[in-house]
Amino acid sequence: MKYDFETLIDRSNKGSGKWQEMKAINPDVPVGVAPLSVADVDIKLAPEIQEGLIEFLKDDPVLGYTSPKDDYYDAVINWMKNKFNYHVEKDWIVLSNGIVPALGDGVAAYTEATDGVIIFTPVYYPFYKAIENNGRKVVKCPLINNDGHYEIDFDKFEELAKQTENTLLILCSPHNPIGRVWTKDELTKIAQICLENNIIILSDEIHEDLTMPGFTHTPIATISEEVENITITCSAPSKSFNIAGLQGSNIIIKNPELREKLTSQQGKKGFHSLNTISFEATRLAYSKGEAWLDEFKELIYTNYQLVVDFINKNLPKVKVTPLEGTYLMWLDFRAYGLTYQELEKRMQHANLYLDEGYVFGKEGQGFERVNIATPTKVLQAALDRLYEEFKGE
Ligand SMILES: Cc1ncc(COP(=O)(O)O)c(C=O)c1O
Repeated sequence: MKYDFETLIDRSNKGSGKWQEMKAINPDVPVGVAPLSVADVDIKLAPEIQEGLIEFLKDDPVLGYTSPKDDYYDAVINWMKNKFNYHVEKDWIVLSNGIVPALGDGVAAYTEATDGVIIFTPVYYPFYKAIENNGRKVVKCPLINNDGHYEIDFDKFEELAKQTENTLLILCSPHNPIGRVWTKDELTKIAQICLENNIIILSDEIHEDLTMPGFTHTPIATISEEVENITITCSAPSKSFNIAGLQGSNIIIKNPELREKLTSQQGKKGFHSLNTISFEATRLAYSKGEAWLDEFKELIYTNYQLVVDFINKNLPKVKVTPLEGTYLMWLDFRAYGLTYQELEKRMQHANLYLDEGYVFGKEGQGFERVNIATPTKVLQAALDRLYEEFKGE
């Protein structure tokens, strides 16, 4: 590999919440143990971004208010075109300081006080908050766990969509935490149901670049013009290039009416633009980061295979959910018959700091979400500790 994916960066003194949380649980956690929870990555930044930012600060140290220049928009537009065959125009791009804020803004902008918002559960926990914090109703459409392969319950979805008080779907595509990359057929069915029932689609595609070999991400907006007209695509380089701390996100909305509703909601909070460094990092990522991203995906796939092989061989009671996209694995420990509280304790006892499945909804009880984007040796050591904890049971 050309890039360094083997050095673990200890972030316990760098303001990382997940490292601090781990140290709070166990102040004596051994060196080399890393938390495998929150979706960011303790490896080196792509040198193209690091060196590019250093150059940027050397050349142009004025950090006053900045608007994105055409080269920013060109980088985003070209990435969407080249990676997903998604035609995007400059005017369609609404800036947001993160996808989570955009989800909250979207809920406020596109729904009324008594409306319900549909989500496919288990799902990334801030989806619940985006709905609840705006006083709207969470309408769960639980995914069907078909022997480890998750599928959408289309009958249930249609039934919920038909209820006129449900007006918005927040889609997670690819889906965190169950690792599905929705197929074009599935997305077409989702979109059809939304079109027939006047449901707006707020599509969180933050994991769009992180697909495993054989799987292709389709932005739902590319299904048809009609679908594009009811879709808000939430896109960002933050997961793909590990620059989430910069918060730069692009919310792509072709429909001018929907776009105006979102920007007006952002305006109510006083949001007007992103920070200067974030524009440059996004531009660098999308124009110079592709080779790094390719190797990053290789690391994820290698690590995924390691987990599958290790668990199948040593801990066959754990069921591995196939990983199609994201770097978040979803492991089913229900065969051990532990309560979710007991399971959490066992993980901590093994010095494993993962995301507990229950935080993604009650369907996640008995599951663990593991962030596998870490140096392979760190993951191997975590698997060894897992084995020590559960061997013979
Ligand atoms: C599905 C999903 N959406 C959004 C985010 C976070 O977005 P942001 O940091 O841009 O608010 C994450 C982070 O894990 C995520 O998995």
